Amino acid sequence: MAYYDKIARGYNDLYKDEQLKKLYIIKYNIQIEGSIRILDIGCGTGISSNFECFVVGIDPSIELLKQNNRIKVLGISESLPFKDRSFEYIVSITSIHNFKNVAKSLNEAKRVGMENFIFSVLRKSKKYDFIKSIIEKNFKIEKAIGDEKDMIFFCKNR
Ligand SMILES: C[S@@+](CC[C@H](N)C(=O)[O-])C[C@H]1O[C@@H](n2cnc3c(N)ncnc32)[C@H](O)[C@@H]1O
Repeated sequence: MAYYDKIARGYNDLYKDEQLKKLYIIKYNIQIEGSIRILDIGCGTGISSNFECFVVGIDPSIELLKQNNRIKVLGISESLPFKDRSFEYIVSITSIHNFKNVAKSLNEAKRVGMENFIFSVLRKSKKYDFIKSIIEKNFKIEKAIGDEKDMIFFCKNR
């Protein structure tokens, strides 16, 4: 059983407050209208999908998705089952360091996204510098805000 399936039952108790702080920072820094479509890559139980508009989440952990009452798809970041330019916003909160292929995943995010991309990246991850360099290569970082645990990159398409 994969790691997130194993810890799924306790996930919200362990991480909800921490993840909500990141979500609060993101919401404070963007303006979301009801007509906006958001894709949440690595949505888990849906904490990070809590925007007041149309949100689709995607995640490979069936056990986390069972606790997610929002619109969700079982799948992986490396192969997003959506047409090009389907979403005005792509968000991914504390998930990228788990992706098997970060470059491929961010290429996919770029393909299905339009203009706005928000990546919250765990700073203590060994892959942090690598992830940041791939974000810089693919996107224009407009703002970076440090949370207690993550760096949140607000990006535009290049
Ligand atoms: C720390 S959790 C964050 C979940 C959610 N974004 C939140 O804020 O609560 C990391 C998530 O990344 C997901 N994940 C792992 N590999 C993935 C992949 N290749 N594609 C998409 N999500 C993945 C895990 O299943 C897990 O839900």
